[in-house]
Amino acid sequence: MMVGWEVLLVSVMVVTASLWREGVRGGEVTYDGRSLLIDGQRKILFSGSIHYPRSTPQMWPDLIAKAKEGGVDVIQTYVFWDLHEPQPGQYDFSGRYDLVSFVKEIQAQGLYACLRIGPFIESEWTYGGFPFWLHDVPGITFRTNNEPFKFYMQNFTTKVVNLMKSEGLYASQGGPIILSQIENEYQNIEAAFGEQGPLYVQWAASMAVALETGVPWVMCKQNDAPDPVINACNGMRCGETFPGPNSPNKPAIWTEDWTSFYQVYGGEPYLRSAEDIAFHAALFIAKLNGSYINYYMYHGGTNFGRTAAAYFITSYYDQAPLDEYGFLREPKWGHLKELHGAIKNSSSILLEGVKSNFSVGQYQEAYVFQEETGGCVAFLVNSDSKDSANIQFGNRSFELLPKSISILQDCENVIFNTAKVTSESNTRVITSSQTFECADKWEEFLDVTPSYLDTLLRADTLLEHMNTTKDESDYLWYTCSFQPNSTCAEPVLHIESLGHVAHAFVNNGYVGAAHGSHDVKNFTMETKIVLGNQMTNISLLSVMVGLPDSGAFLERRYAGLAEVEIRCTQDESYNLTHYSWGYQVGLLGQELEIYNEQNLGNVEWSRVTMVNQPLTWYKTYFDAPEGSEPLALNLTTMAKGEAWVNGQSIGRYWVSFHTAKGNPSQTLYHVPRSFLKASGNLLVLLEEVGGDPLHVSLCTLSVCTLNNASSHFPFLS
Ligand SMILES: *[C@@H]1O[C@H](CO)[C@@H](O)[C@H](O)[C@H]1NC(C)=O
Ligand SMILES: *[C@@H]1O[C@H](CO)[C@@H](O)[C@H](O)[C@H]1NC(C)=O
Ligand SMILES: *[C@@H]1O[C@H](CO)[C@@H](O)[C@H](O)[C@H]1NC(C)=O
Ligand SMILES: *[C@@H]1O[C@H](CO)[C@@H](O)[C@H](O)[C@H]1NC(C)=O
Ligand SMILES: *[C@@H]1O[C@H](CO)[C@@H](O)[C@H](O)[C@H]1NC(C)=O
Ligand SMILES: *[C@@H]1O[C@H](CO)[C@@H](O)[C@H](O)[C@H]1NC(C)=O
Ligand SMILES: *[C@@H]1O[C@H](CO)[C@@H](O)[C@H](O)[C@H]1NC(C)=O
Ligand SMILES: *[C@@H]1O[C@H](CO)[C@@H](O)[C@H](O)[C@H]1NC(C)=O
Ligand SMILES: *[C@@H]1O[C@H](CO)[C@@H](O)[C@H](O)[C@H]1NC(C)=O
Ligand SMILES: *[C@@H]1O[C@H](CO)[C@@H](O)[C@H](O)[C@H]1NC(C)=O
Ligand SMILES: *[C@@H]1O[C@H](CO)[C@@H](O)[C@H](O)[C@H]1NC(C)=O
Ligand SMILES: *[C@@H]1O[C@H](CO)[C@@H](O)[C@H](O)[C@H]1NC(C)=O
Repeated sequence: MMVGWEVLLVSVMVVTASLWREGVRGGEVTYDGRSLLIDGQRKILFSGSIHYPRSTPQMWPDLIAKAKEGGVDVIQTYVFWDLHEPQPGQYDFSGRYDLVSFVKEIQAQGLYACLRIGPFIESEWTYGGFPFWLHDVPGITFRTNNEPFKFYMQNFTTKVVNLMKSEGLYASQGGPIILSQIENEYQNIEAAFGEQGPLYVQWAASMAVALETGVPWVMCKQNDAPDPVINACNGMRCGETFPGPNSPNKPAIWTEDWTSFYQVYGGEPYLRSAEDIAFHAALFIAKLNGSYINYYMYHGGTNFGRTAAAYFITSYYDQAPLDEYGFLREPKWGHLKELHGAIKNSSSILLEGVKSNFSVGQYQEAYVFQEETGGCVAFLVNSDSKDSANIQFGNRSFELLPKSISILQDCENVIFNTAKVTSESNTRVITSSQTFECADKWEEFLDVTPSYLDTLLRADTLLEHMNTTKDESDYLWYTCSFQPNSTCAEPVLHIESLGHVAHAFVNNGYVGAAHGSHDVKNFTMETKIVLGNQMTNISLLSVMVGLPDSGAFLERRYAGLAEVEIRCTQDESYNLTHYSWGYQVGLLGQELEIYNEQNLGNVEWSRVTMVNQPLTWYKTYFDAPEGSEPLALNLTTMAKGEAWVNGQSIGRYWVSFHTAKGNPSQTLYHVPRSFLKASGNLLVLLEEVGGDPLHVSLCTLSVCTLNNASSHFPFLS
């Protein structure tokens, strides 16, 4: 029997309408000049970056729930190529790398997802997310119109898209992913590639679009993003800096609104106020018709293992609305939640209304969105950061606080003021729960300093660090052996390194160390040494603190030793640069994986009789503190190295690198609860310089409101 097409259409419409009502999705995501269109509807969306490998699967549900509670609609994440494809064609999507579970958790909580595939991501992540094997692909130049690079970029991008499709995770399939990103801030380096740069941008856009995800793609910081890819803004003040979408048919999208800033060793934390974040978010909506704002980061988390890029600390964006441990950071979280509520309250007027703007004072401006039906919302902006202003708007006068935006419901009543924080502040409470003072509970293993004769890999020159280690370790030994002349009375070992750290040993004795910094990676070391008249063993340990993550030609960077001399007098020296050097990649303890329980027997451990020794492994056991509060190790008395709990690396530490104010950049190192069992947890510390493990402690963390009951509730006092 034939059914008239009208009948069919009507029944399809009824079904579709009821699906919409129940929140079931399944249409393509498109966009117009105002916003993304999901199920055909415009949306103002707040988004928060949470990177799945920077926390644990056990933490994901709580982090996502707190983001949702904070008025966030979308969870944004990068995809971390180096974790997923450690060797070409070998994939890992398990545990902390389980992208599918992460996206499904977002879906289960009723939020949308934005997948920034890159696959170059920067992100203060080692090698900007590239697996190191990419460095050795013959003829490769990264991020340009280069066939080998494009092959692997397309291969991985396709792999991720196909994985998401096979799980039905795109919104076009009924899943949560509404947006994807290809490349990342490419415009910053595009000029370095001449005419190949723009060709690569075109290729990347077409390659991505051809994958037919059914949802739009963005390129951030790429003002000429080719249609239909949307150009998006990154920064702290996109309302002021963004030139806007490159077509009237594209919406204004802010992919990274920095809630803080990354922190490097030797740097202090960056504190961005809740007021400032709210001001710039509101300005982007009012001035640029912004309809999508992503907080980078909403939760920063932890750079476990060796995943941090060069000189970045292990903690990531601890100052975000959710701190490293997943606590609400107040008043940031609460203030932004209020902003989101105020915007959501008027979202249909913002999305459908007609905008006008006019001056209401020298530094004051009104942005008004009005619907034909009478709906009205106004933003009163005071750009003067020093003074309040009294202005007339409509029939009323308003006092505008310095550097503030007041949001007026019905164009009359202020429902939110970016400069008026009503959320209570809180602070983290750190309680020492366990100390390790008893020397009997520790054992140590002094790693072995290799000499030239112990090495197999030889070269008549100083090799480049990364090309030699292949990033299998942070450590590379450079050794040589030479016969000094008795005339060298006051010898000085002079080393020039391109980064990041060097430790020097002469005849097995530690003689000194030096390091560069995030801004100046190369450094010089000058150390007085003692030379006998017999053959002398020089063993230099070059250390990297993460691979570089930014800039053009990442595949051509240099690190490690560049020159070695022993200076006797002003004009007399041994230039060892072209001596015969013997190399060893990694430390012995690392090679034997003595941070794993089952490998502890591979070396001989002994009682700790002395602290402050270089290149020493320490181990002890501890029981998990009761309760469920987050935990951290206080490594204040250690200097530099890496820490493992039950075989899992909780990251590098570097406490001895002080800031200009004389503080370590990070003393507390997150130990996720899920890494622990109830008792007998193995803690292993690898110390490079010399530390005191006896004064390390395990802390529990909580937060408490800086409550001022008397000022908030005067009637109670
Ligand atoms: C990606 O490359 C691998 C080999 O490394 C190959 O097996 C696979 O088919 C490629 N996939 C795509 C989508 O090109
Ligand atoms: C949203 O608007 C309603 C009235 O339209 C009001 O009752 C409510 O308080 C508003 N919410 C916020 C967060 O401003
Ligand atoms: C914002 O939208 C209005 C339409 O309401 C339009 O007139 C205006 O040009 C847009 N402004 C920007 C910066 O895109
Ligand atoms: C409205 O805003 C635009 C963009 O910020 C600005 O160029 C223009 O001068 C404003 N108009 C008035 C009347 O203030
Ligand atoms: C201002 O007040 C007058 C008289 O009370 C009223 O007619 C007019 O609509 C008001 N204008 C606005 C913008 O509220
Ligand atoms: C890396 O090492 C290989 C030999 O292992 C050598 O052929 C190549 O030139 C080196 N590349 C760089 C950039 O040092
Ligand atoms: C230098 O190293 C070799 C090989 O390990 C060793 O036999 C020799 O004793 C060392 N020389 C000194 C002075 O330590
Ligand atoms: C680092 O390298 C730059 C450029 O080659 C050089 O000018 C500077 O002196 C070097 N700094 C150190 C501390 O070696
Ligand atoms: C060491 O002695 C050799 C000859 O025995 C001489 O050629 C060389 O210049 C001397 N080097 C230094 C640094 O004294
Ligand atoms: C040591 O030798 C290297 C390589 O030949 C050279 O570049 C460097 O200038 C020499 N250093 C001195 C102080 O002569
Ligand atoms: C960390 O340990 C050091 C040394 O014992 C101590 O002075 C400091 O107060 C501890 N820090 C915290 C936050 O507990
Ligand atoms: C609590 O309130 C008092 C008086 O209002 C004020 O002086 C104090 O700074 C407030 N403390 C905090 C932590 O907000």
